[in-house]
Amino acid sequence: MTASFSPDEYKNFQSFLEKACGIVLGENKHYLVSSRLNRLMKESNIPTLQGLVDALNKSINSALRTKVIEAMTTNETLWFRDTYPFQVLSQTIFEDYKQQKKNAIRIWSAACSSGQEPYSISMIADEYLKKDRAFKVDVVATDISQEILNAAKMAKYDALALARGLSEERKRQYFSQVGDQWQVNANVRSRVNFREVNLLKSYAALGKFDAIFCRNVLIYFSAESKKDILNRMADALNPRGFLMLGASESIAQYCDRFEMVRASTGVVYRLKFA
Ligand SMILES: C[S@@+](CC[C@H](N)C(=O)[O-])C[C@H]1O[C@@H](n2cnc3c(N)ncnc32)[C@H](O)[C@@H]1O
Repeated sequence: MTASFSPDEYKNFQSFLEKACGIVLGENKHYLVSSRLNRLMKESNIPTLQGLVDALNKSINSALRTKVIEAMTTNETLWFRDTYPFQVLSQTIFEDYKQQKKNAIRIWSAACSSGQEPYSISMIADEYLKKDRAFKVDVVATDISQEILNAAKMAKYDALALARGLSEERKRQYFSQVGDQWQVNANVRSRVNFREVNLLKSYAALGKFDAIFCRNVLIYFSAESKKDILNRMADALNPRGFLMLGASESIAQYCDRFEMVRASTGVVYRLKFA
């Protein structure tokens, strides 16, 4: 497949992708589509993008659909990404729930990729609870990609992945070497449960949360999908629950049910009083 598609077949692929997982492909992403799908299309014996769209729309091949979504999503992540969300978690969110004398806290890492975000949350919980056994913390980690969730559940990382955002001290404290990889210790893993969830679909089966981390995924979605997702996340939070977005993401035009809380280390959103 070359990087030039007819306007119609490109438009049809854009439309498939947005309906399937929310990702809005820009007009100038021909090369990206080509490079990410080339191998898959060769292996599946599908010579044109329109041929792929036709096969996807017939939806007889759900494995193909899964592989296309997996190829088109970006899984970039790292430990304690942007630092401040994890300081806010410890200094603002946990402190607030401690004041409220809550005995169990549920946190949702929506779009968790290969697990760095939910395990970072669990490490922060470990550090906080060592000083003060104030409550129990459970983390539900979800992603659209079963393949990335399988990797996240294994919790094994190579030296390159480990070096991104993790201090030597935390590495020593929370990881064990297994061959040429490092695995997150059982105690940190035990707080995290992984589930496959498409953010465009219902969250009802997940229950209610006290905090949601929805970071670096909404940037790929349309304004309409952002509105829908943020409103349904508001429904999934307990009263006065917290929402942490990515550093470049904002809520302003999309949902008026949250207020911005400026903590000393950064910004977090909080469900307004009903
Ligand atoms: C860039 S990663 C962000 C990971 C992590 N939250 C962070 O900030 O480091 C985006 C993740 O969103 C997932 N994703 C994309 N579309 C999704 C959807 N519709 N539902 C659930 N997850 C989705 C991708 O599979 C990918 O793992």
